[in-house]
Amino acid sequence: MGMFRDRLVEHSPSFPLIIAHRGASFLAPENTIAAFDLAAEQGAKAFELDIQRTQDNFLAVFHDISLMRTTRTRGRITQKTKQEIQQLDAGYWKSEKFKNERIPFLGDVLSRYTPTYYINIELKEESVSLENDALEQQVIETIHRYRCEEQVLISSFSYKAIQTIKRLNPRILTGLLYNRKLLGKEDVVRLVEKFQADFFHCSIREATEKRLKELNKAHIPVLVYTVNDAQIAHKLWKHGVSGFFTDVPDILLRAFQ
Ligand code: G3P
Ligand code: MG
Repeated sequence: MGMFRDRLVEHSPSFPLIIAHRGASFLAPENTIAAFDLAAEQGAKAFELDIQRTQDNFLAVFHDISLMRTTRTRGRITQKTKQEIQQLDAGYWKSEKFKNERIPFLGDVLSRYTPTYYINIELKEESVSLENDALEQQVIETIHRYRCEEQVLISSFSYKAIQTIKRLNPRILTGLLYNRKLLGKEDVVRLVEKFQADFFHCSIREATEKRLKELNKAHIPVLVYTVNDAQIAHKLWKHGVSGFFTDVPDILLRAFQ
């Protein structure tokens, strides 16, 4: 198993994996260098980021499909070019202090933070194609370019993407995000095994005691989002969750000191 899991889960069983969700995104604008730098300053060792693909096929670190919420711009990220995206301000919406913060691209983040930090790359469903594997191939090529295969974990609500990543490179760790739209009451252990995922990711609400018991029994590590409350984190930890995605890594790190 790769280093992400070995170092942070198996070798530190007495401490949960605390992953800064879109960076330290409560205080800084999500999915920007400012948010990842702040998470690092606060002591986080792992970040989560989201990937959408631009019209000209570049891997932008961006959550929504619409540009409106975080850049105050009309249109979809998937219909803009890299050059157009680079003009946008992704910080001002959060606070004037972050004016001129840019939307980073996957290579920028991997080159800046690996190998020191671990990165969970979430492939957004809107950018995953069912017709071809171009996005998955491109993500893997970028990971190889920055030689950080052992520092990344790729997750998605798209099971096609999870399956494709494993087929293209079985050494890269994957996390299956519980997708309510696809699932209903399906047995999650069977699902993780079917897609050969290494981790199971779900929301707080979906992390029921019964489900956690089944996953623990099958030795499948579970990561839960978005946990911004120390008490909830402690309860989940007691029930066998391995780590949390949090907008406030400082608070969770303190809670487990
Ligand atoms: O990867 C965990 C979490 O980020 C999934 O939901 O919408 O915050 O990307 P979302
Ligand atoms: Mg995400």
